[in-house]
Amino acid sequence: MTRPFLRQAKEEPGIVDPASGGPILHPDSRVPELPTYTATRYLQPLREGGSLPAVVDTDAGGLFVVKFRGAGQGAKALIAELIAGMLARAFGLPVPNLALIEVPVPFGRSEPDPEIQDVLRASHGTNVGLRYLDGAFNYDNSAAGELVTADFATRLVWFDAFITNPDRTHRNPNVLIWERRPWLIDHGAALYAHHDWASVDDARVHTPFTRIREHVLLARSANIEAIDAELAATLSDQCVTDVLAKVPDTLLLDRTRGEEFASGDEARARYWDYLTRRRDGPRTFVTEAVRARTQLRDLPLHRLSARR
Ligand SMILES: Nc1ncnc2c1ncn2[C@@H]1O[C@H](COP(=O)(O)OP(=O)(O)O)[C@@H](O)[C@H]1O
Ligand SMILES: [Mg+2]
Repeated sequence: MTRPFLRQAKEEPGIVDPASGGPILHPDSRVPELPTYTATRYLQPLREGGSLPAVVDTDAGGLFVVKFRGAGQGAKALIAELIAGMLARAFGLPVPNLALIEVPVPFGRSEPDPEIQDVLRASHGTNVGLRYLDGAFNYDNSAAGELVTADFATRLVWFDAFITNPDRTHRNPNVLIWERRPWLIDHGAALYAHHDWASVDDARVHTPFTRIREHVLLARSANIEAIDAELAATLSDQCVTDVLAKVPDTLLLDRTRGEEFASGDEARARYWDYLTRRRDGPRTFVTEAVRARTQLRDLPLHRLSARR
């Protein structure tokens, strides 16, 4: 197996279309571009979750919801936002366009709220933005359930179990409905193993992720085992490499909470190892999701609604 970043990566053969003999669309080509814009105007804080993101105008990219490195879980939350967001796109799951957002020193100085001032002061430099979806609203099973197919629910449950995302619950779905389609946001709490790499042993790499039982779309999902092989194969080594290559050194080497890695590539190698080993299995997260879904179906209906 090719292990990039710390060693020279070997060329992958690429996928050839048996009909034409030419190259066909490789999953890697779905890794999105990650442009950089500069924040020009602080428009509005979003206080729903804990991390105090904001709608921000930019020099050339238009409006973004910016997740600030000076908030909550710091640079790690932004790294998770980028990796999970780009991986979701590689799986064909819709995520608003991602961008790196530079916050210049004078940005937001006139904001009267001291809490916002504190966050912005600690966020100079590179932050992460998601395209602002004007008019989007939060998904709710009872209000927008018909806009989500069983196939989408199944893929999303697999994906969230893979990236260990605890933030897709009934109370806090982090699925927006925009133009009658579901969009995924807020992956900052995913990949939580990276908050303490030293304790990440084989068992933690392969965690079954029992919190999948709280997933907002678990009851709507279908046969998770049936798509497991397909999704694991979508996540090629090259795809993981391409995603990680886009995560900037400034975030990977953020020293706010101590020094972890000597170089950006050393950090990327650690993530690469984690993601590819979790992909290669044993994928107990699939078994666990199947178990949780069966249990959910067996619950009497009144217990199901009490879960909310
Ligand atoms: N790209 C977006 N477009 C429109 N609204 C968004 C977007 N991203 C987030 N929001 C709104 O802001 C809220 C908080 O953003 P989120 O990323 O979930 O941050 P937190 O970590 O604080 O939960 C969301 O619940 C949603 O209502
Ligand atoms: Mg949220």
